[in-house]
Amino acid sequence: MLQEIEFEHPFIYINILHISTIMPELSKALQRFYPRPSPLQPLVGNFLEQYGLEVLIKRDDLIDPALSGNKWRKLHLNLLEADRLEASTLLTFGGAYSNHIYAVAAAGQGFGFQTIGMIRGEQPKTFGATLRFAESCGMVFRFLSRTDYRNKNIPTDIDMDGTYLIPEGGTNCLGVKGCASIVTEVQEQLSGEAAIDYWCTSSGTGGTAAGIINQLQGQSQVLVFSSLKGDFLQGDIEQLLQKCTYTSWTNWQLMTEYHFGGYAKFKPELIEFMDAFKKQTGIALDPVYTGKMVYGIVDLAAKGFFKKGSRILIVHTGGLQGMAGFYEQRKQNRNGNRNRN
Ligand SMILES: Cc1ncc(COP(=O)(O)O)c(C=O)c1O
Repeated sequence: MLQEIEFEHPFIYINILHISTIMPELSKALQRFYPRPSPLQPLVGNFLEQYGLEVLIKRDDLIDPALSGNKWRKLHLNLLEADRLEASTLLTFGGAYSNHIYAVAAAGQGFGFQTIGMIRGEQPKTFGATLRFAESCGMVFRFLSRTDYRNKNIPTDIDMDGTYLIPEGGTNCLGVKGCASIVTEVQEQLSGEAAIDYWCTSSGTGGTAAGIINQLQGQSQVLVFSSLKGDFLQGDIEQLLQKCTYTSWTNWQLMTEYHFGGYAKFKPELIEFMDAFKKQTGIALDPVYTGKMVYGIVDLAAKGFFKKGSRILIVHTGGLQGMAGFYEQRKQNRNGNRNRN
């Protein structure tokens, strides 16, 4: 059984929620917050070494407890743009357990924006950990029916004047551009060392993958692990690349076999894998994105997908805030089952 991840955090960077009182001006606040390059670490443990692979992990999960992983990468240019446009409010979309909602709420509080979250589905009777945190940061919620959410219908009573719209998952062209810094940072950290053969990232909207693919400009192979069922991300990423970078690349591959039933679905074997991985490497994964990706990488290695001696880079895109909600739901399910017996 997966051990609960403790929410103690190394705080290698300044915590965003501590900024607002010190630095009211956004550009100064961003400069103050701007994280140093996140650590690039060799992956210890026998998960992939046994296949003769050298594996590095880019620890974007350590950027900040709230603005973690690809959230910082996708949001920072959007925050600057919102500031340039003199917006007072950030409005965005997400599910009740969304890492993105959590991060936008924190960014709003840290950098002095009001925030509005359009949340998919009916208002829950009690808020889970993500919504509780977002509310504590001052985010105002509007709950949208599935159809309104799908069509991104913003209620007409919301005043969009002075409001900066950030799409679901933070994936717009500024978000894609922001993710390029994952590649430039790694390249600086590796300067003089052998290049990476495979870059691996998990994918939901495709923004992170598009940023990485474009910045690599055709070098190396990029493996994009879809956390959703189906192969529509192939077209979504292609479109993002064309729209945001006017390019199209062939050195990437969408891996569609590791969704474990679909978005936010999982199976016991995934949880057991994440537990074993944490014990062996000390690195926590989440069951929605990074757990599925790393499971997929190990499975591919076992099947001989990678040439012996290959150098693999795993991008840890964060998402660990979602674990609190995951444990809560599991407890509720267990109690529900007990009460039914
Ligand atoms: C932790 C985590 N990893 C990966 C992803 C996927 O990123 P993208 O939506 O850019 O494909 C997300 C969603 O944004 C996420 O929250």
